[in-house]
Amino acid sequence: MTPFKRIALITGANVGIGRVTALGLSRQGYQLFLAGRSKARTQPVIDEIRSLHQREDAATFLPLQLDDLESVKSCADSFLKTGLELHLLVNNAGLAGAKGLTRQGFELAFGVNHLGHFLLTHLLMQRLKTSAPARVVNIASRAHLLARNGIPWETLQKPSSSLTGISEYAVSKLANILFNTQLAKELTGTKVSCYALHPGVVDTQVWREVPKFLQPIMKWRGMLTPEQGAQTSLYCALEAPAAETGLYYDKCKIKTPSAFAQDPVAAQRLWDSSLQWVSHHLSS
Ligand SMILES: NC(=O)c1ccc[n+]([C@@H]2O[C@H](COP(=O)([O-])OP(=O)(O)OC[C@H]3O[C@@H](n4cnc5c(N)ncnc54)[C@H](OP(=O)(O)O)[C@@H]3O)[C@@H](O)[C@H]2O)c1
Repeated sequence: MTPFKRIALITGANVGIGRVTALGLSRQGYQLFLAGRSKARTQPVIDEIRSLHQREDAATFLPLQLDDLESVKSCADSFLKTGLELHLLVNNAGLAGAKGLTRQGFELAFGVNHLGHFLLTHLLMQRLKTSAPARVVNIASRAHLLARNGIPWETLQKPSSSLTGISEYAVSKLANILFNTQLAKELTGTKVSCYALHPGVVDTQVWREVPKFLQPIMKWRGMLTPEQGAQTSLYCALEAPAAETGLYYDKCKIKTPSAFAQDPVAAQRLWDSSLQWVSHHLSS
């Protein structure tokens, strides 16, 4: 059987935007690695992809709990052990409204949405570089605009404290954009490009953890379907020019993010701090 020419790893592809993105990539001929919390919940997508290609290796599940850096390391190791190239990493998984701490003591939204993906990207970086041209797509959000004081450095290692968890979500999504900006700088000259994006306001389960009284407000008419919501992810994965690396997209077009999201000092500080926080899991 001819091997697939392009290989992608996507997080959180069992439902929502990630599921549609995975199916779209598969239709474009990508071999898919679907990293997530539950094999059973991911199996229907895996079956759908396998039946598209009529072959078993079209989609593979990788266990991944982004709230545990040990699990992130095991996930990356499992992929690296396949010896396959990696042409596309889609950092899609995310949570909103859930509160607490990650296993290593980071605020939950920051730890899952930013730090887990930061480590995953680092661990896969060398494979992306040797497989280049390659790209990294980071699903951020317009909600970063709500992070009105930038990154609250002093509370990143404390439990979520807001009533709704929305302010912590906003900070995590600001972190996604700052990470993307710095990643582009770090990848200069490598033929690995990276993109951050807002998918639109999409009718998915992402708000399932916000307090019950707020849920009707989160689900208003006119939300995009997951099929519509995956379009900017697919555009960044398949079409955005490599020269536009490091930029932020909305509706498949470049968009200027908040002033905080454009602060190079914050981007560098987030990069350096994140590197220090995950250092144990990079080397062990
Ligand atoms: N929906 C929107 O309006 C909207 C707007 C802006 C940005 N976004 C972003 O779009 C991305 C996809 O979200 P979605 O709307 O498609 O939501 P979704 O349907 O709730 O999907 C979220 C995915 O993330 C996974 N996930 C959550 N916590 C995780 C953890 N600790 N470890 C591993 N995986 C975890 C979920 O897995 P389980 O099924 O196991 O929980 C699920 O696969 C997120 O980054 C979100 O922030 C969404």
